[in-house]
Amino acid sequence: MNAPVMNGLPIQAPPHVKNAKLIAWVAEMAALCKPEHIYWCDGSDEEYDRLCQQLVDAGTFKKLNPAKRPDSFLANSDPVDVARVEDRTYICSATKEEAGPTNNWMPPAEMRATLQPLFDGCMKGRTMYVVPFSMGPLGSPIAHIGIELSDSPYVAVNMKIMTRMGKAVHDVLGADGEFVPCVHTVGAPLEAGQKDVAWPCNTTKYIVHYPETREIWSYGSGYGGNALLGKKCFALRIASTMGRDEGWLAEHMLILGVTNPEGKKYHVAAAFPSACGKTNFSMLVPPAGFEGWKVTTIGDDIAWIKPQADGSLRAINPEAGYFGVAPGTNYTTNPNCMRSLDKNVIFTNVALTDDGDVWWEGMEQDAPGKALPAHLIDWQGKDWTPAIAKETGAKAAHPNARFTVAATNNPALDEAWDDPKGVKIDAFIFGGRRSTTVPLVTEARNWTEGVYMAATMGSETTAAATGQAGVVRRDPFAMLPFMGYNMSDYFQHWLDLGKKLEGSGATLPKIYTTNWFRKGADGKFVWPGYGENMRVLKWMIDRIEGKAGEGVAHVTGVSPRYEDLTWTGLDFSAAQFDTVTSIDKAAWQAELKLHTELFEQLAHHLPKELPETKAAIEQRLAA
Ligand code: OXD
Ligand code: MN
Repeated sequence: MNAPVMNGLPIQAPPHVKNAKLIAWVAEMAALCKPEHIYWCDGSDEEYDRLCQQLVDAGTFKKLNPAKRPDSFLANSDPVDVARVEDRTYICSATKEEAGPTNNWMPPAEMRATLQPLFDGCMKGRTMYVVPFSMGPLGSPIAHIGIELSDSPYVAVNMKIMTRMGKAVHDVLGADGEFVPCVHTVGAPLEAGQKDVAWPCNTTKYIVHYPETREIWSYGSGYGGNALLGKKCFALRIASTMGRDEGWLAEHMLILGVTNPEGKKYHVAAAFPSACGKTNFSMLVPPAGFEGWKVTTIGDDIAWIKPQADGSLRAINPEAGYFGVAPGTNYTTNPNCMRSLDKNVIFTNVALTDDGDVWWEGMEQDAPGKALPAHLIDWQGKDWTPAIAKETGAKAAHPNARFTVAATNNPALDEAWDDPKGVKIDAFIFGGRRSTTVPLVTEARNWTEGVYMAATMGSETTAAATGQAGVVRRDPFAMLPFMGYNMSDYFQHWLDLGKKLEGSGATLPKIYTTNWFRKGADGKFVWPGYGENMRVLKWMIDRIEGKAGEGVAHVTGVSPRYEDLTWTGLDFSAAQFDTVTSIDKAAWQAELKLHTELFEQLAHHLPKELPETKAAIEQRLAA
């Protein structure tokens, strides 16, 4: 066979790259995208430093003051490229039915024909980075490999932090291993002599998945989940279809370890929609009164969960870093996160202080009584002062401003975070952002009731995606923007998995729903949240251990009584507790109408267990 060629020259893969399919694919993509150079990333620290310097020279990165924030950088994106673009995200399965009613769909052939002219020459004047990455510990039976081709050095350095990226991946891949091919371009070819901009991107955007062939094609955006293709595109959308076909789960879940004073450790996987506190919960610091309790982080955003022969579920975090939301993060809401951000961080769209450090809304709360900074450069490079903010409402940081940081920076990192075997899951939590209706915490009576509550979860939208924030939408399993196939088939997949585990005689993980976000008549949050969520977590562990008391059974499961939670160190009255736990009959009747609407939308293939569970809830409500 002839060596693959680009522009008439053979592709020079480094000697450690042995996978013929990979080399041929790189050649094919290079012939299409027509980059000036091809660079095979080795994942070394030296390479990371060199690419960061290159980004500084190009004006994409500002190096932060090393005395304040060592080895850290700030990038400001183009203002049209600040969040995931759900309306431009497609699941191009063979049939529309397979993608289901919650996804944008186009026939694969039509999408390929649409993308072909866009990708033709899209990398002109740029370097194509070949980024090898493992989602999950290298060689783990739960992990999978991807290769991202990208014309963005910002993507290459972020992928180094967010995944196990580099040479060792080629060793695991070998000569004939499988990988998920991911092609990414900012969609801004450079004509000869044309000067580049700091944040190249295109107003046309396509984030495309072909589940049958497990391919990802991303065009026009350089930001976050649109561009770091290991994250949402692979680890959730493509992996969810792999999980459907192979009998496992790819979930939008943090994973934490919680150890009680007796030294017994449990593992909890929790799904909350984007920007609803997964990172905070995964790094929770138990409050005063909880001496001897310890929470450790395995992951903050995504879990891959595979059933084992003994009927247990073992989970890994496929990522190796955190791409978290900065605004609102401070020493009260998430002290472990603040410590993680001390050094070696890439910040995107936060504000720059006059002494070369970073700032975002919500950060000042770490020092009560401290005045706001007198002057900042905001995320768009403009002057910001408290007076300007007051007058115009201008935010110094974009509400979806992010940090990218390695998991190893986290002082609460779990010792098993990189264990190829993963950790055994004892409980699942599903939590929406709801100012009314949904109680603080509920335990499902059984797996089916838990699946029902997860499937019908509603949440108020946030700045993590473009579009209006604060609107309640159904977000089943917190997976609405991340499902790679038909949502009803996914519900069935969860129900089938429960039956299978039960059949093997295993104790199923308990399923909980939470809502930290109920508001009082004054419009303020009632539950203090953050570290105080430990009180709810302890109740769950007590329930697992069978020592939490019987609680109160209600329409959707069992919630604690006031006296079932430990209140040491917190002044929270029974009346306040009632505000966050009460079940309002009229609100639930209205809520169930929204469940009906969801089920109508998802009627095709909807598992019968879900309307049956709804009928049981309706009966309880009527009783
Ligand atoms: C994320 C998101 O970036 O959910 O994790 O949007
Ligand atoms: Mn997320």
